[in-house]
Order: sequence, then structure tokens, then C-alpha cells
Amino acid sequence: MTTVKHFQFGTPIETGAVIRNVPAAGSRIPGWVQDEAQGTLCRDLSEDEIVYGLGESVRGMNKRGWIYESNNSDDPNHTEDKHSLYASQNFFLIFSRQHSYGMFVDTPGKVSFDIGYSKMDQMKISLDDFAANVYTIEGENPTEVIRSFHDLIGKSYIPPKWAFGYGQSRWSYMNEQEVLEVVRSYRDAGIPIDSVYLDIDYMDHYKDFTINNEAFPDFDRFTRQMKEQGIHLVPIIDAGVKIEKGYDVYEEGVEKQYFCQKENGENLVAAVWPGRVHFPDFLDEKTREWFGGKYQWLISQGVDGFWNDMNEPAIFYTEDHLKEVFRKIDLYRDQNLDIRSFFAFKELVDKIDNNPEDYRRFYHHYHGQLVRHDKVHNLYGYYMTMAAGEAFRRYSPDKRILMFSRASYIGMHRYGGVWTGDNKSWWSHLLLSFQQMPGLNMCGFLYSGSDIGGFGADCTEDLMLRWLEMAIMTPLYRNHSAEGTRRQELYRFEHIDWFRNLVNLRYALIPYIYSEFMKAVLSGGMYMMPLSFVYPEDERADRVEDQLIVGESIMLAPVYLQNAVGRSVYLPEDMKLIRFRSCEDYEEEILTAGDHYIPVALNETILFLRKGHVLPMAQPAQDVEQIDYSKLFYLTYEAEPEDYELYNDDGISPVS
Ligand code: GLC
Repeated sequence: MTTVKHFQFGTPIETGAVIRNVPAAGSRIPGWVQDEAQGTLCRDLSEDEIVYGLGESVRGMNKRGWIYESNNSDDPNHTEDKHSLYASQNFFLIFSRQHSYGMFVDTPGKVSFDIGYSKMDQMKISLDDFAANVYTIEGENPTEVIRSFHDLIGKSYIPPKWAFGYGQSRWSYMNEQEVLEVVRSYRDAGIPIDSVYLDIDYMDHYKDFTINNEAFPDFDRFTRQMKEQGIHLVPIIDAGVKIEKGYDVYEEGVEKQYFCQKENGENLVAAVWPGRVHFPDFLDEKTREWFGGKYQWLISQGVDGFWNDMNEPAIFYTEDHLKEVFRKIDLYRDQNLDIRSFFAFKELVDKIDNNPEDYRRFYHHYHGQLVRHDKVHNLYGYYMTMAAGEAFRRYSPDKRILMFSRASYIGMHRYGGVWTGDNKSWWSHLLLSFQQMPGLNMCGFLYSGSDIGGFGADCTEDLMLRWLEMAIMTPLYRNHSAEGTRRQELYRFEHIDWFRNLVNLRYALIPYIYSEFMKAVLSGGMYMMPLSFVYPEDERADRVEDQLIVGESIMLAPVYLQNAVGRSVYLPEDMKLIRFRSCEDYEEEILTAGDHYIPVALNETILFLRKGHVLPMAQPAQDVEQIDYSKLFYLTYEAEPEDYELYNDDGISPVS
């Protein structure tokens, strides 16, 4: 049993995140000190309370001890000192053995969550505009609270089943030949693969919904040729539309007033990859319908997956701000740049991109009103993805289309998944991306994952192995890297057989992964959980930050330190350790509850099977479609194969 309450204060801007109607129970939230003048909500935290949630954010699973700010930011340096990443997911859960208490602060502007930073035993939420719909959910255990929350916000997005296969991406596949080469190399190496991602270089001068015809002379043919080889091509779509005479998307947008305007009614001129762009006003229904319809052009050429990017929106500069900067820079020309003026000068240029002032320069048509962007900033990526999702339902009612986005807000989880953006090939980011998963799940984002191997910086072979092992059950399983970094396609490394075994294992696990993912979506639950969700009575389990439960049967405990040859693992109950070197070569060992040091070689993946549970597995396959469900085998620990209820479907038809 849970109790859901809705409070409303100020005049909140509607976000569309909550779809179940809960009548407002007033404007004062019991248990919190509300200070309207300061714009804050405060509550004491007892020592045993753990605060989970807030989706994709820095630091650990227990969010205590830092300030997190909901302010979608294009920042590729995901270091501990940051407060905001690309997403704003304002749901958290306060957990103790006595109770579980969830809160969703539904407001599209900036919100800061000081969780025991200013005062270790206090939580303080500050809102830029003190207006919000707040939902509180009280229950006996965290699982119930999460189910109630998911019931409020609606079912999570379901991708096609092939999107659980391995994906290869890199920013800099310049043409058809390069893509062909990647596919051929994977096939030659015998490493399974389902998708190749097309980054901005497939477009003609970074223009959305265009193809560089020299690089991809017959895209339609190419997409279908790839499909015949079991490969789905997944192009990127960026938020900014290039300003260029004769470019149809630009021309139509200007003519029909689909772009965000400044106060004076002119379209805002910002810049991203193609230089000057306009931003579609995704908050306006007619713009969404128009932009969403554009995806159809690529779908008609055989494309069945997309990733939406730069939709915080990322801004290199706005034309207005750039002019100001040039004017100001000139004032420094003949100066002796000293300690003060030098840094002031440097800051002028440093702060040119994603400048907060720029987010105050333009407006949206939202529910019949003109709303300044900063007031609804965190909705932009959500509504871009909604544009696509609504169009997919219109144009592809019988077929699921893959969609995930960089920026997000709760509500977007109904239209697409997320990836965690531009991480780095750092060991700390391997751990971070593991720890981000339960927070994302709580907020409804079940289809998610990080850039495996790291996006920025050079990846080492051991990091790639450990990352693939850590992410072995993460729904999105995509290797992606930035232009200019070391190439990290798996066949380029020394131990190709290790990589082959690992990705084969991933495919062997897909029946379980898909089954548990779907059950979680359909029941409004979570797919990846902290240990405390499953063992709420176990004090030690609550504090474990580097192990997760995946579905009903499995506990994960990845190795995340370089040169480590094993790790300590805490078992809340007796479990069966399964040590895979490949799908055929594995050992099983029963371990008793408590602490264990587990050696794990670089080419080994360890899974822990819970007592009384079953792990269904398939024979490896070169792509998801070829997984043979008639040949499943079952690893069990004090259970029978029949005890496992396998969910399966055709992987393509929409599921309601
Ligand atoms: C952004 C994306 C990244 C992509 C790059 C080029 O940085 O986050 O994934 O590769 O843009 O499009």
C-alpha cells in the first residue's frame, strides 16, 4: 500500500510528466519546512536514511553529501565537482528500514537538491521560481513506491529487441566504405553486432534530414543492404536546424514560424555544428508535428532507429552574444592584461558557449502562452523526443523504432531512452555509469546505457574489457567514441577472442535481459536496482555502492579498477557464482552469505545467481534475430527451469 499525494504551490508550469490525475491536497507538504521567500523546502535527514534517485547525475547511488542541480547542461566533463549533467530527473527516494518516501518535484526550471551538503543532516530543495507540482509517495518498501511513481508517470519506452544487441558507433565514420569496413571487420572477427550508428558526418553539412550524397551515394540502397546483413543503421538527429537558403527544413521552419523567437519576434540565431542555426520550438505542438514528420523521410529509406542529440539545447554561441563579446574583447586590445583583467578577458571567451544569458534570449509557444526558455529549459530535449515518438506512433504504428536522447526530463521516458552523454575513457566513469543505472530506472528511464569504452580520451584494452563486462546487462550496449581519440572498435585490440567471447555472452544473456526488462516495464518496476530494494532488512546491503540486482535472478559486481585482478563482494544471501570465460567455458560455485574476495581475470565475467532462481541462456548468435529460443538452456540454483517465467515476443510489434 502506498499513499500518493499531490501538492501545488505558486503557479506551476505544466510539464506533461504526470499522466495520472491526483487531486491537489493543498500547498503545504507535511514534514517539510516551506519558505516561500527563500524558495526552499527543507527536511531533516536521519543518519540511517539513504537518498536515491535524481536519474543521471554525478557521484554514487546514495546521493547524500552533494548539491545536484536540475539544469540540463552540455558539459562533457563529468567530474565529481559538477552539479548538472544532461538530464533533469527530479524524483528521489528517501529510504530507511522503517519507510520509503518518494518525491517528484515537477517543475521545468532550475531546481537544486542540497542533500546533506550544507548541513549533513538536512535536505534542502531550492527552486528558481517557487512554483511546482509536488508528488509525494509513502510506502512500506522502495519497490512499492517506485511502482506507484511509475503508475503516475506512465509506462517506459520499449525499443525493438535488436536494440539490445551490440552497437558500434564512432564520431567520424565518414562514408559508406568506412561503415562497410566496420561491419566486415566485425563479421570477420566473429563478434556479434546489430547496429552501426551514424554520427553527424552522414549529413550534408550537418543539416538534419539530409544525406551527404557523395559519402552515401544511394542511402536507401545502403540501408537495405546493411539490413540484409543484419545491421541496423542508426542516424543522429541534432536539435539545431542550419540556416541556409534553399534548405527545405530551414525554409519551411521560417515560413511557418516553427522556430524559437526572441522578444522582438525575430528567430533566435544560435550556433552548433553547422554554424548558425535556428532552434525548432518543440514545445509548440504544431512544430512537433512538423519536425516529427521529418523522421519519416529516413524511415522510408529503411532506417528504424535514431538518437537525438545536442538538445539541452547545446549552444556554441548566439549571434547576439558573440557580437557583444567581440565588442568587449576590443576594449582589452591595448591593455596590460594583469591578474584581474587577464582572467576577465579569458572568461569572456570561455563563457561563450552554453551561456545562461543565452537561455534568456528566446521564447516558446507553450499551451497558448509565450514562455521564456530558461523557465522551461529542462523540457527541450524531452519535447524534441516527444516530437519523434508521436510521429513514430503515427507513421510506424506496427513497428517499434529505436529512440534515445541525450537531454531528458521525466515524461520523456515514455518516448525514448537515454544515453549518458560524453563520458571519458576513465575508470572512474566506468563505475559512474554503473551507479547511474538505478537512478535512471527509478525515474522511468529503463532503456539506457553509457558510451562503452568511454567517448572522450583514449581507451585501453583492459578498460574496454572491463566496461563490456560491467555493462553486460545494460539495455543499451553501444561502443561509442569521439573523433580524434584512439580507435576502439573491438577488432582493433589484441585479444579478439576475449572480445568475441564477451559479446557472445551478451547475446547468450539476451533472453534473460529482454525478459526482465520487459517485465519491469510492464509492471512499472525497475530492471536494475540497488541491493537494498531486494534486501531491505539487510543493513550491510543498504550501503553497497558497487553491486546491483538485475531482474529477479542476478546480482552484478563488476571490476572497475585498473590492474585489479579481483574484487571484494558482499553477498546478502547464499548465491551461486558463475564465472564465464565464454558461453561454453564457465564454472559455478556456491558461496555462502557474507564477504568474499573474488578473483576475476580480464577475460572473465562474473555473475551471481540468487538462490531459488534461474538464468535462461541462449546459444550465441551473430545478431539478435538469430537467437534461437528453441535451444535455451538454464543455469539454476535450487530451482527448476520451469520456475522461470520467460517473457518473449516478436521484438518489433508495439506492446501496450
Ligand atoms: C555530442 C554527442 C556525441 C556525438 C558528438 C558529435 O558530443 O554527445 O555522442 O558523437 O556530439 O555528433
